[in-house]
Amino acid sequence: MSFFEITGRRRLSGSLAVHGAKNSVLPILAACILAPGECVIHNCPHLSDVSATLDILRGLGCAVHRDGNTVTVDASVVQRSAVPEQLMREMRSSVIFLGATLARMGEAQLSYPGGCELGPRPINLHLDALRKLGAQIREEDGVLYCCAPDGLHGCEVHLPFPSVGATENTMLAACGGSGTTTIVGAAREPEIEDLQMFLNALGAQVQGAGSNVITVQGAARLRPAEHTVMGDRIVAATYLSAAGAAGGEVELTGVCPEHLSTVLDVLEEAGCRLWYAKDMIHLCSDGRLQGVRAIRTAPYPGFPTDAQSVVMAALACGRGRTVFEENIFQSRYRHVSELARMGADIRLTGRTAVVQGADLHGADVCSTDLRGGAALVVAALAAEGVSRVGELHHIDRGYDHLELALSKLGAEIYRKNG
Ligand code: EPU
Repeated sequence: MSFFEITGRRRLSGSLAVHGAKNSVLPILAACILAPGECVIHNCPHLSDVSATLDILRGLGCAVHRDGNTVTVDASVVQRSAVPEQLMREMRSSVIFLGATLARMGEAQLSYPGGCELGPRPINLHLDALRKLGAQIREEDGVLYCCAPDGLHGCEVHLPFPSVGATENTMLAACGGSGTTTIVGAAREPEIEDLQMFLNALGAQVQGAGSNVITVQGAARLRPAEHTVMGDRIVAATYLSAAGAAGGEVELTGVCPEHLSTVLDVLEEAGCRLWYAKDMIHLCSDGRLQGVRAIRTAPYPGFPTDAQSVVMAALACGRGRTVFEENIFQSRYRHVSELARMGADIRLTGRTAVVQGADLHGADVCSTDLRGGAALVVAALAAEGVSRVGELHHIDRGYDHLELALSKLGAEIYRKNG
């Protein structure tokens, strides 16, 4: 079992390029199957979730090749419409293949994604939207069988909650349908704009991403395209939280500051000094963050749930009190008990966590989920002494060699086996 060994209280300084966004590259890779021919995707990070997605594409019959950060997907021939259960288990977000496979093949089969480390993850909104477009879906022994015998047809889809995955699945399916689909109540996350940009490069006609109404003119003839994935705003938030907590001066490139403005506002209020340009963020911190006004997670443009744990870790080793309210996922505080092993003072009541800044010390802790694991790394970088962070498979789902990136900034962090 591998773990990170981290010696805390080292100032972080230097410049880092932020890698491509996990939550952007996954739907974009799924979208490759819409266009017969070879798509070229740049800035593909080395993540286990990306590897699982590439395995799904291979399983469907695509030829996939990776050269550094560039992936080519040749979807000239798609032979299968079923995603193997083991790959569905490995990555819940493989549900995104439902819309894409349905659009290309007129049918799709995948196992029902169960709950995960963040609590129950229903897909009712995805299924309701696809049914509205004309899909017939039945569940048998945990497998979803979807088909569209009369084709998919454009219509108005109302999402009662701006689900990121349901918005993306509907966009992908609608590209393969006839007529115009209007998604009302769509999620507004920047990754959805990146997907729109790629779909339009394929020749689709999608408009409105970034707002809560997206329209898709279906049935366009799609052709392969080349695309560069946007920078990962949550990875950027993680590096910035680490530098804020440990102290230092870092410059991040390849990420749009506007995409994480709520996180930057919090770090500024906590005492960091920040400058930004078009795709650059510069942060300077003396390493003693102050408590800030209540942080409430919300769909974009609100404070991202994915950044809750890393910012909490940074504030837990500061001074003063901060109240967090997690409003997106039911169970996204599993890192709290691990942070407590390092001396963090965090009280949980339902969806609220009250953090009182404290001096943290090194400890042996376990990642509980992707962002929770990253939060433990942030805390360990700011804690006095040595920490060991285990269960790295969670972190490797969304961070491309996190230890190498942080070492570049001067952190003392090593991946070890034992
Ligand atoms: N929801 C439903 N029914 C549905 C779909 C969602 O009730 O059919 C609920 C979920 O249970 C959850 C909330 O709606 O409580 C938000 O879910 P959403 O569908 O927006 O999330 P997602 O598409 O499953 C993506 C990201 C997550 C990120 C969320 C919220 C990907 C691959 N994943 O998940 O990323 O937290 O949006 O922004 O894009 C992460 O990167 O660590 C991560 C978990």
